[in-house]
Amino acid sequence: MRLDVVTIFPEYLDPLDVSLVGKARASGRLDVQVHDLRGWTHDRHNTVDDTPYGGGPGMVMKTGPWGEALDEVLADGYETGARGPVLVVPTPSGRPFTQELAVELSGRPWLIFAPARYEGIDRRVVEEYATRIPVVEVSIGDYVLAGGEAAVLVITEAVARLLPGVLGNAESHRDDSFAPGAMADLLEGPVYTKPPEWRGRGIPGVLLSGHHGRIARWRRDEAFRRTALNRPDLIERCDPAVFDKKDRETLSILGWSPEPGGRFWRRPDGVEE
Ligand code: ADE
Repeated sequence: MRLDVVTIFPEYLDPLDVSLVGKARASGRLDVQVHDLRGWTHDRHNTVDDTPYGGGPGMVMKTGPWGEALDEVLADGYETGARGPVLVVPTPSGRPFTQELAVELSGRPWLIFAPARYEGIDRRVVEEYATRIPVVEVSIGDYVLAGGEAAVLVITEAVARLLPGVLGNAESHRDDSFAPGAMADLLEGPVYTKPPEWRGRGIPGVLLSGHHGRIARWRRDEAFRRTALNRPDLIERCDPAVFDKKDRETLSILGWSPEPGGRFWRRPDGVEE
């Protein structure tokens, strides 16, 4: 996969040299090119922003440098054989970034990121490139960052670990929380490793039992508990057909009841942990 990032803070992307993404780059599975947007300015001050039409606070990134940068990145990529580009524009007004979108992006051969600073990029840039290539505006959460670079790091890490050969164990992302088809879209439960005792705290006995069926059952119950506590919206969204008898018992203990349609909702007097 090829990744291009156009930014006014190239050094912000230095973490792409580290850990899993760094290794994917070193092994050639990921070709990352970071470009300084100011390289496409032509004035003494390397200006990339200007005041917004219609007034208001902050500054808006100018069309000129972005247009020249994206034209050149596209032309260079095509020249070196890259195909199927998608322009990814991080913005709090974008489509929520989910595991589903990460899987979708991991299937594309070439991502071009356009992280903005200030109040965003002049709208005409997105409109222009959307006539040529797929453009996806992506939000990594309901909060406002000072710029899109941190979002590029988040999206890249989530996408890179899905690429073939990047995670050591191909099974590793099958059980990810939010993996498509993950058991009833539950969060993952707690995990433990050696030593068997630490500061007086032991390991849940079932994990030492060697009994695979009971371990799987326990993991599922724990996943339910965590999901019901931290993400009740995921339980409410679940098709109740995926809940077995024990799941229903666990939910009931946690304060959930089936409604006539079969979906679960949380009783107002629900038992707190
Ligand atoms: N830029 C600023 N805030 C952002 C967010 N929440 N997601 C993606 N890009 C952003």
